[in-house]
Amino acid sequence: MRVLGIESSCDETGVALVEAGPCGVPLLLGQALYSQIDLHQAYGGVVPELASRDHIRRVLPLLHQTMRQAGLTLGDVDWVAYTRGPGLAGALLVGAGLACALAAALERPALGIHHLEGHLLSPFLGEDPPEFPFLALLVSGGHTQLMRVAQVGRYELLGETIDDAAGEAFDKSAKLLGLPYPGGPHLAALAAEGNERAFKLPRPLLHSGDLDFSFAGLKTAVLTQVHKLGDQLTVRGADLAASTQAAIVDVLVAKSLAALEQTGLDRLVVAGGVGANSLLRQRLGQACKGMGVRLHYPDLSLCTDNGAMIALAAGMRLQAGLDKSGTGYAFDVRPRWSLSGLND
Ligand code: KG4
Ligand code: ZN
Repeated sequence: MRVLGIESSCDETGVALVEAGPCGVPLLLGQALYSQIDLHQAYGGVVPELASRDHIRRVLPLLHQTMRQAGLTLGDVDWVAYTRGPGLAGALLVGAGLACALAAALERPALGIHHLEGHLLSPFLGEDPPEFPFLALLVSGGHTQLMRVAQVGRYELLGETIDDAAGEAFDKSAKLLGLPYPGGPHLAALAAEGNERAFKLPRPLLHSGDLDFSFAGLKTAVLTQVHKLGDQLTVRGADLAASTQAAIVDVLVAKSLAALEQTGLDRLVVAGGVGANSLLRQRLGQACKGMGVRLHYPDLSLCTDNGAMIALAAGMRLQAGLDKSGTGYAFDVRPRWSLSGLND
């Protein structure tokens, strides 16, 4: 079964073709990705209307590129999957509209996928796929969640952020440090040259006893330090970046370990853009080794948004018998959509 996946929930247009056999390992046959970073950089964040318009411009060339790479034609596609939510409404509509039009023209079924389900199943496209059940730490620009994943489609929310997401904490702190959008990777690069003990920053909810997160206070603490530093920011920026990164990573690691202990699970999947952070990978690696927990990541290229994870999630859901071929090509998008309420 060949599944075409289209992702357009935010500022990346992703298209991919995945072969999902009933007993085999899923195979990535072709993929193409366009990141709108340059387009939004001048505004310091994603401008939804510009994002939607750019998805329209990019998605068809990316589709053709994917099919060329796979050496196949659109007639070889069995299912068309797209990101139905959560995300920016206008941006989601571009992918959903194209997917359903294409499916109708090809007389194939279309399937809307939850963006976060794509992220958390993405390690199944890698060389070291996890076994069920596992704990998933989902850390992206919009979400920070700990989920118990019993099976494909069975996700139990254990804890989540009550305000900013981890990626948002990276991005907003980076902005305060004068770094370009998206701040996460820039802040991480600057942090590599700094001393993480230079500034004492809060670790919100570290000892709250539950599995929830809060990052809004950290951003305020970074702002206070930036004001205090004034002109000194140019020479102390790396130290402040390192201290900020360490505060975010400390909380993510501590809560993940608490969730592993609480659930008794011995496998941890880290997915979403912040999963690309090397300090997080290093600290989680050390901690999991000590606990005898197997740690799984998607390939680095699949950490941030992409079409492959959408095609993969669709393929896995279909194999698990969770979705049936429907009739008609009407579609809607769900800009706000909880993963644990997926089957509601
Ligand atoms: O999953 P993703 O690509 O998009 C969303 O669904 O939100 O995640 C993007 C987020 C951004 O906040 C970005 O700054 C962050 O992931 N990010 C990183 C790194 N690479 C991407 N944060 C910290 N360190 C990184 N290396
Ligand atoms: Zn994402």
